[in-house]
Amino acid sequence: MKVNQAEIVMSAVSKAQYPEDRLSEIALSGRSNVGKSSFINKMIQRKNLARTSSKPGKTQTLNFYLINESFYFVDVPGYGYAKVSKREREAWGRMMEEYFTTREPLKAAVLLIDMRHPPTEDDLIMYDFLKYYDLPVIVVATKMDKIAKPKRQKHLKVIEDDLELEPEDVVIPFSAETGEGKDQVWGKIKGFL
Ligand code: GTP
Ligand code: MG
Repeated sequence: MKVNQAEIVMSAVSKAQYPEDRLSEIALSGRSNVGKSSFINKMIQRKNLARTSSKPGKTQTLNFYLINESFYFVDVPGYGYAKVSKREREAWGRMMEEYFTTREPLKAAVLLIDMRHPPTEDDLIMYDFLKYYDLPVIVVATKMDKIAKPKRQKHLKVIEDDLELEPEDVVIPFSAETGEGKDQVWGKIKGFL
């Protein structure tokens, strides 16, 4: 997809702040620091529209990025970051649940998994949660540039097996460094818009 225009229109913490134009939304999902914000930047060819950081916990709100005035990428705070209080974790859970379970324009979630490691317990819970709510999931194995080519297939297989991937789903290897996987992911996303 050729992206001509991208802008942030809202950083939301609750429903009342979500955009009201009913354009389709594709949401990111994944543990803190996995590369959700980097993924958005690479997909839309913008260096730092979505703010990234080498430290986990960078994205704190639901950030709606309007793309080509036709749909939104929704960047979300990651899970699994140890250094948050119980209260913060509960607030995060409420924000995620409110968005993922009630949001009508939400067409699909991109679940990012770090390709270097097997999925975490939280990754398995997230995949099951999205499937339970009948939300189409695009599983993306990111940071593929950090794994030597001959080992990549094996890493993908571990992710597929551990998630107990449903037959309709695939794992797409991706790198926000090199852009590998980008066209394949766009192909999937287009199918949901
Ligand atoms: P939170 O907002 O904290 O949930 O994190 P996030 O998932 O948005 O991660 P972010 O995009 O901020 O990236 C975290 C770190 O991983 C940054 O240092 C990125 O440069 C790095 N990173 C992300 N994707 C890739 C990738 O594909 N390859 C490599 N080598 N590094 C990546
Ligand atoms: Mg982020």
